[in-house]
Amino acid sequence: MNIDKKYPSIPDLESAALPRLPGFVRDYLVHGIGNDVNVRKNRESLDGVELLPRYLSDMDQPNLQCRLLGQDYEAPFGVAPIGLAGLIWPNAEATLAAAAKENGIPFALSTVSTITLENARELGHEYTWFQLYTPRDPGSRDDIIRRCDEAGYETLIVTVDVPYGTRRAHDIRNGLSVPPRFNLRNLWQMITHPPWALRMLAAGIPRFRNLTPYYDADTLKRRRSEIQRSVRFIKDRLGVHISRQVLGEIRAIWPENLVVKGVLDPEDARGYIDAGADGVIVSNHGGRQLDAAPSAVSVLPQIRESVGPDVPLIVDGGVRSGLDIARLLALGADFVLIGRPYMFALAAIGAKGGSHVVNIFKAELQSTMGQLGCPSIPDLPDYLVRKSLPHLDP
Ligand SMILES: Cc1cc2nc3c(=O)[nH]c(=O)nc-3n(C[C@H](O)[C@H](O)[C@H](O)COP(=O)(O)O)c2cc1C
Repeated sequence: MNIDKKYPSIPDLESAALPRLPGFVRDYLVHGIGNDVNVRKNRESLDGVELLPRYLSDMDQPNLQCRLLGQDYEAPFGVAPIGLAGLIWPNAEATLAAAAKENGIPFALSTVSTITLENARELGHEYTWFQLYTPRDPGSRDDIIRRCDEAGYETLIVTVDVPYGTRRAHDIRNGLSVPPRFNLRNLWQMITHPPWALRMLAAGIPRFRNLTPYYDADTLKRRRSEIQRSVRFIKDRLGVHISRQVLGEIRAIWPENLVVKGVLDPEDARGYIDAGADGVIVSNHGGRQLDAAPSAVSVLPQIRESVGPDVPLIVDGGVRSGLDIARLLALGADFVLIGRPYMFALAAIGAKGGSHVVNIFKAELQSTMGQLGCPSIPDLPDYLVRKSLPHLDP
């Protein structure tokens, strides 16, 4: 099969992927919170960003390479952390860690992953970042950070936008859990999606492998099954407001790059930098936390103004093309993360999916920059049509 011809864009991969996933998995992956207002807003605000082509140019070949937090990358985008990725598609984390390394872009492993952080680092080497959902108990928190240090990680992302239990009605209705709960409805969904079910059988039942040492130590709950203990641990023990003090405590024991993810307020961004962060990820978590939150596009310019020109700003939410990447970089971001499209690609075409998505984004970004006459990534802000964004100063 010629995948370049059959799936030349992310929407092609999405349409092929969705019918291959059981309903409860599809709901978890695709939707946001509430009425998906925030998911739609991410898309609409990207569509509203205009770029001005300049044809009077002698630019030859656009250069996609870039440098972020002391490391060179082949392109200005990476793989966003996706929790339970191994449930969405078997072996997703291992496949994507390896694909990211092969393509010279970063892959961020979620705390709630189905492989260990040590395993991911072995597969992705210096291209693997770790994303922390901060445990309330400082002992478990510090132990995860120690493991990251020992495994050789250079970038730790602290997600700040899950300070409190998140209520997504579809996941509650579906009884989403790891391993999947075998009620009649879910079982039927699994049986009727053989590409997913057979691969899941071969890969083995997914578990929250990063967290096993912590919920195993939970002696009070010893009599419960492993699944009950892991779910309880995540519900009761993960997630805390990342105050200046908490970030300061993490900063004190983490010597490498520290990036906070999920920031939407310019003052928060400045505050986290003052408390010791090296960079900020402007994100509304793919529309999954607060349905009334603004899109990253609408707050990015003010956040850039608030932190100044030199603080690394990464952004995510709704990116589905190389043009979208160009839009965000033109608006003042240094780097872009992308979540769902990688999962669509794995579900549509399997292990080749990770590299195929990278190739699509690279080709589309290159073609966009060629149209604009833009020679390199740092030049993209020169092509922004400022009046397409009413909230920007003229
Ligand atoms: C299914 C799913 C699971 C996610 N899990 C995490 C997670 O464990 N940690 C985290 O910081 N963000 C998580 N996110 C948010 C992503 O890192 C990212 O911010 C978002 O997916 C970007 O939007 P996009 O999917 O439209 O590209 C998750 C997103 C999705 C769709």
